[in-house]
Amino acid sequence: MLVEDSALTVEEIHEEMEKKLSGVVPAGELRYKAELVHQIRILKKEKNAVILGHNYMEPALFHTIPDFAGDSLDLSRKAATTDKDIIVFCGVRFMAETAKILSPAKKVLLPSEKAGCSLAESIAADDVRQLKKRYPGVPVVTYVNTYADVKAESDICCTSSNAAEVVTSLNADTVIFIPDEYLAKNVARETGKHIIFPVNENGLTENKELSEDTTLDYQMIGWKGRCEVHEQFKVEDIYNVRAQFPDVTVLAHPECSPEVVSNSDYSGGTNALIRYIEENDVKRFLLLTECSMADNIIAAHPDKETIRLCSIRCEHMNQITLEDTLNALRYDRYIIEVPEDIRQRAYRAVNRMLEIG
Ligand code: 13P
Ligand code: SF4
Repeated sequence: MLVEDSALTVEEIHEEMEKKLSGVVPAGELRYKAELVHQIRILKKEKNAVILGHNYMEPALFHTIPDFAGDSLDLSRKAATTDKDIIVFCGVRFMAETAKILSPAKKVLLPSEKAGCSLAESIAADDVRQLKKRYPGVPVVTYVNTYADVKAESDICCTSSNAAEVVTSLNADTVIFIPDEYLAKNVARETGKHIIFPVNENGLTENKELSEDTTLDYQMIGWKGRCEVHEQFKVEDIYNVRAQFPDVTVLAHPECSPEVVSNSDYSGGTNALIRYIEENDVKRFLLLTECSMADNIIAAHPDKETIRLCSIRCEHMNQITLEDTLNALRYDRYIIEVPEDIRQRAYRAVNRMLEIG
């Protein structure tokens, strides 16, 4: 990441951006973006704000304005410990809500109202209440890609980087794991656990044959949510790239289908994927996750050849632009609020996850 410095001139910022980003951002855009970066840095300082940027932010934003960049777990930790008055979350709504859950006294801003998530939309608090009624006493593990009221119904949260650890930590015979069907299946495989998809009146299952199976020694009860981005990657994509580049190392986010993950060389959350590329002496990677992250890696590591499938984008993450971030700081928008009773219950689930490490 470039050094944040509100004292730098537009020219100096432009020069820094050219050095780092000329391979991934069209030259014609850099000057205009440098001006936005300049204004954001000044306002951020004036308003005593911290900017958190998810790994999926577009390169001109990711490499310039965040004080901290990372995966959802990382950014939750930063949100929990910041001493700034304002948290500007360059990510999606559930991430900004998690920041508010952890830091209720701070003003949390999400630069776009449209930055949602298909996983968060896939389940409501009442669905969780129904599951708990159906499986009384079974602990609920909820992926952080959910809204606060769903977290409030949960025993513990997890992210893509600690899901297996969280499930294992519960030491329970059966776990409800919601809402990502693919992550549940990938975690089930990693932990050696079995998985049940309950049938309800809306037909929320693809695994009817497992729905009433009580013979399994350990069960995870899943949901049918999917990431609209990662579900698009197919095993054929891997075959095609391997046919063209036999030496390629394939990296997949665990929101991809179990078939894609098992045909990959490595799977992990966004930070883990970046670390893998940085720490392994491999020349060529295929990255099966949101395309901007590959752009960010290419900017930081031009020596590594990173292949990405850029027809597959997260329209929610892509809502967050430098322009919107500047307006968020200028006009204090969009303020994230979580009702206090929900926040307190959601806090227990999120904090329990953070305590695990
Ligand atoms: P990470 O927690 O791995 O950063 O993932 C967040 C996300 O939304 C992936 O689609
Ligand atoms: Fe949600 Fe998928 Fe976008 Fe991540 S990439 S924010 S899981 S829709």
